[in-house]
Amino acid sequence: MLTTINRGTWGTRTGFILAAAGSAVGLGNIWGFPTQVGQNGGAVFVLVYLFCVLLICLPIMVAELVIGRHAQLDPVGSFGTIKPNTSWNLVGVLGVLAGAGILSFYSVIAGWSVAYIWFAGAGTLSGNAQEMGPFFSTFVANGTLNITLTFLVLVTTAAVLLGGVRSGIERITKLMMPALITLLLLLAARALTLPGANEGLAYYLRPDFSRLSDPRVVGAALAQAFFSLSLGMGAMLTYGSYLNKRENLISAACWVVVFDTAIALLAGFIIFPAGFSIDGFDPTASGPGLIFVVLPRLFATFPGGQIFGAAFFILLTMAALTSAISLLEVPVAHFIDTHKWSRPKAVMFVTTGVFVISIPSALGNGAVEFFGRLPGFEMDFLTLMVTLWNNLALPIGGLLTAVFVGWVWRTDQAIAEIQLHGRRFPGRYLWTFLLRWICPVAITVIILYSVSSA
Ligand code: PHE
Repeated sequence: MLTTINRGTWGTRTGFILAAAGSAVGLGNIWGFPTQVGQNGGAVFVLVYLFCVLLICLPIMVAELVIGRHAQLDPVGSFGTIKPNTSWNLVGVLGVLAGAGILSFYSVIAGWSVAYIWFAGAGTLSGNAQEMGPFFSTFVANGTLNITLTFLVLVTTAAVLLGGVRSGIERITKLMMPALITLLLLLAARALTLPGANEGLAYYLRPDFSRLSDPRVVGAALAQAFFSLSLGMGAMLTYGSYLNKRENLISAACWVVVFDTAIALLAGFIIFPAGFSIDGFDPTASGPGLIFVVLPRLFATFPGGQIFGAAFFILLTMAALTSAISLLEVPVAHFIDTHKWSRPKAVMFVTTGVFVISIPSALGNGAVEFFGRLPGFEMDFLTLMVTLWNNLALPIGGLLTAVFVGWVWRTDQAIAEIQLHGRRFPGRYLWTFLLRWICPVAITVIILYSVSSA
């Protein structure tokens, strides 16, 4: 084994790809992507998203994996080892904070998915879409229930992490992925035959380019790409640190990106055709409740829809769990590697902290009333967290990672790491160019453009 006392490595090559895909595929694909497409003008968002994935995120995915595998440490330790006595380890600190910040609202939304297992199975979800909006609003307004669900999600995540890297994550993902994909394909096949499906497809696939003038569309697409691919906060860096030196980083990165993007696109092929089959459907107005309103109607069209719905939310919860694990693993790995804590101590400490900051998000509207609206922000606490961590911290983390590998550590060092054991890297010049020029410039422009609209 290639392990030191506290660190683990992946069992097999597929083990790593599964775990990285498990981190990437989650609420971001099935809840976040359709919600963002709905709020940001449909097909044009999808197009910008795909550009961001290919030209910005794929190169940064490789960059994160290579930093992690080279240094074999948590993000703070990795940046610090490669460039000692500089401030670059602060990029790692930002990642550790973002991991905790994102998990604080991610666990709330995962809690919604847990509740919907029960609602679907017990037959509480009617096939009448008009009733599902108010049902969702009443549910998220129930603070005690949401705090309890969030707690449950966090405790389960912590329990898996206590089992260590390899046994916990690989096992869950191996079971979940094939089942999730099968169910999504079935749902898409059904959604595409509903009345109104064509209108939904047109919304999803025919871009209205005039929407590009809205800075929020471009900013949201970039943020969503980072979020969905678990980039910009050291999750992939940390997973890369458990990767053994013989692996082919490039093919692993490509697999994860293709897989994650395919699942997000598939979710769109479910939500929009099914959504537009509902009278008076407005994707823009649905907000975070979109999938919780649209999916129950779709389940009702299946024989045994209750069981089907429950199975879907079980899988969504498992997908969320494998992502939550990677979010928690970043701060946990930090305390283990940099501060030499034991794994149980690190897990306990970080989970407790995250639970405390998740409470205002879990309180939903209750928190808005409690804290009052923050001056200048027309948003509730959960939305504030999303804006802060997803829309700002992740792209900034990605930008700094690109600059670090492209200009500070230098790409020839990174390429040498990638090419260890005779691995080939045919796209290295393109990668270098994208990382040095396209990523920093595009991310800076997009952040400035979207901040200018705020
Ligand atoms: N990629 C995960 C999802 O799509 C969320 C996540 C973001 C996980 C950042 C880790 C790091 O649900």
